[in-house]
Amino acid sequence: MIKKVLPSNSLRGTISPPPDKSISQRAAIFSLLHEGISIIKNYSPAQDPQTALDCVEALGAEVLKSSDSVSIKGTGRSGIKAPKEDIDCGNSGTAMRLLAGVIAGSGKQVRMCGDASLTSRTMTRIIDPLEMMGAHILARNSAYAPLMISRNGELKPMDFELPIPSAQLKSCILLAGLFGEKPTRVIESITSRDHTERLLKLDQKEENGKKIITASLQDEIPNQSYTVPGDFSAAAFWLVAGCIIPNSELRLEGTGLNPTRNALLGILQEMGANITIENERMEGSEPVGDIIVNSSNLKAINIPRHQIPNCIDELPILSVAMSFAEGVSIISGAEELRHKETDRIMAISEMLKAAGVSFEEKEDGVEILGNPDFNFQSGHFKSFHDHRIAMASAILSLKGTASSEIIDAECASVSYPGFWKDLEDIS
Ligand code: S3P
Repeated sequence: MIKKVLPSNSLRGTISPPPDKSISQRAAIFSLLHEGISIIKNYSPAQDPQTALDCVEALGAEVLKSSDSVSIKGTGRSGIKAPKEDIDCGNSGTAMRLLAGVIAGSGKQVRMCGDASLTSRTMTRIIDPLEMMGAHILARNSAYAPLMISRNGELKPMDFELPIPSAQLKSCILLAGLFGEKPTRVIESITSRDHTERLLKLDQKEENGKKIITASLQDEIPNQSYTVPGDFSAAAFWLVAGCIIPNSELRLEGTGLNPTRNALLGILQEMGANITIENERMEGSEPVGDIIVNSSNLKAINIPRHQIPNCIDELPILSVAMSFAEGVSIISGAEELRHKETDRIMAISEMLKAAGVSFEEKEDGVEILGNPDFNFQSGHFKSFHDHRIAMASAILSLKGTASSEIIDAECASVSYPGFWKDLEDIS
């Protein structure tokens, strides 16, 4: 689908961002592990979370969808079934990497597959440590899905220091660890999103500036009945849009404010963004609030490496904000972006190029020469079938002087099926 996006000189209104994709998928997977019925409200209708529901159903959970909730009867750790068919994780890296941990822990033999994007993303980061725990994993070219996961002997709990700050890797090892008699300890020196430890209420402590999270068979899996907060990563598109379009005021209701996810808030505020937060509250074990953003004069910023994991999914839309911020902005230490749904450093560069922004692509990020007065006529933007690139390109298109085109725009529904309607409503 090709989407045409018209220029805008004012955005106004209230948006409830879609339910959080990371939390919805975890709710599904952890409900499988809980012995009993979890009722999850505001479960995401987006493609990845729906895929996660299909996957847990294939592994033995009973899933019932109603208009306002999803009910999942789990199998518990001991009841997981090995389906004859492949578990199809579609486009979802989170489903594949987290469920690989569950399957390795369960000791069942299961084959996992995914779409063209997912099967071209490296899985060595989970294959190597899971094999250290006793799993046997057959992968295409030893690195890519389909993955055939099994185990011969006992599960071997271990101490594992994360070599990259990845919440998917951290969660994968902790989930496998939940099946071990003895504790598995994951050591994290750069904080990544902490939904897994929060929702499973895992033991955590700080030692020498590092976080140590422990999981074993002794941990009870809590019931996963809660309301999923609005997705901060989806709200991020409107935060930037509200800043860069004149005469704008947007209210983003019920947005997740987990501090390991919302670095973009502080970054935009440091750039001069006019943002306030109201109604801060807890939704289950996650903080949420309403964010109000008004048009702002932005100045350039340099993002330090340690902040990257806490805004990793927001970097495409941050690059759009940087294009309209006075001065040179730098994103560095973000080489992980090359391993997302597409190579996002390449995709960000192609997006900026299509609009005529002054920038330089680096191996680990981009440098952008921003200009508050920058505008362009119209762009022909490729999404590379990546939801976040499609949506970032749409926000950039609002700054054109004529209609722009987003190619393969339907991929927004991987995380945000209502994106195009919300854009229409506030324009
Ligand atoms: C996610 C973790 C991040 C993020 C992805 C979702 C998660 O990936 O980019 O969109 O749900 O744990 P990495 O763990 O690869 O950094």
